[in-house]
Amino acid sequence: MSVDAANALIHWYDANARILPWRARPGETPDPYRVWLSEIMLQQTTVAAVRPYFDTFTRRWPTVESLAAAEDGEVMAAWAGLGYYARARNLIACARAVVTEQGGQFPDTEAALLKLPGIGRYTAAAIAAIAFGRRAVVVDANVERVVSRLFAMKAPLPGARAGLYALADGITPSRRSGDFAQAMMDLGATICTVRAPACAVCPLSAPCDARREGAPQRYPVKAPKAVRPHRRGNAYWLEHDGHVLLVRRPGKGMLGGMLGFPTGDWADQVEPGDGAPIAADWAEAGSVDHVFTHFALTLNLYCAGAAGREPDQLWWPVEKLGEAGLPTLFAKLAARGATWQRAA
Ligand code: ADE
Repeated sequence: MSVDAANALIHWYDANARILPWRARPGETPDPYRVWLSEIMLQQTTVAAVRPYFDTFTRRWPTVESLAAAEDGEVMAAWAGLGYYARARNLIACARAVVTEQGGQFPDTEAALLKLPGIGRYTAAAIAAIAFGRRAVVVDANVERVVSRLFAMKAPLPGARAGLYALADGITPSRRSGDFAQAMMDLGATICTVRAPACAVCPLSAPCDARREGAPQRYPVKAPKAVRPHRRGNAYWLEHDGHVLLVRRPGKGMLGGMLGFPTGDWADQVEPGDGAPIAADWAEAGSVDHVFTHFALTLNLYCAGAAGREPDQLWWPVEKLGEAGLPTLFAKLAARGATWQRAA
């Protein structure tokens, strides 16, 4: 791609950039806290899903200091529904590291950013470019699609990532590198889309090899995906006097640090009664399916009333479960459990 093409893309961006709440308007200085927060939220997550969370977080915690001072449980609950909960745990750790080790200022180089919790290659490059105007090669899924089409890359991803990165490096300008990165992302999201690229209105159609070949939607070429395994387990709705038993999940592992219902192991085979919080006459109450990135899960729900409550346990009012900050899997189970509660 020539310098002219990079200029054409930036020119297109100046007229067509999406207005997004984390973006500085022309003439404004970007706020590194908002850039960082948005880039963490946007990992594996769409702009549409992120918008309301970004608004809530920035209203509640407008600065990195305020986020660093928040209670872990409050931040985890505010993240509920956005998925990939390790991001929220790292978000808290990163905010605290910036405040205690960096005087409240995000570092402005990729190398220093990479040392912070939850910041990997993509995020370090995105923050360095967008917040600090540094030249950095920013490659997310949208950029991958645009670059693979521009050069009609035949080698399948993810194996060809290094080659793709080198091509992206070759077209990244040293001026306005943050705008260039976001222009590539916006182009991928709005014009160079997965199934129906709109080549007729694309500012990069002239140099695009895939368009010249005639079937740009064939790119990026991807290696066949492994079949997603299916796991199963039991979950328990234990109720007493209008309250239901919740547990906080261990910090590491799936849904780590989030509130949920007690469950047994999630495995190929499920044993009856596995993971039950007490011995009781458990009533079967159907099952819930949920798909994670690396496996699909079916949890069978069992419901019972408890004779009393143990101290040290977390009993949540059934009427207020909507405010507990349950991740989607447990929100689905809550909908089932609440039905059982009414029927019983
Ligand atoms: N996806 C990830 N980061 C983004 C950004 N800054 N703008 C638009 N889409 C994005």
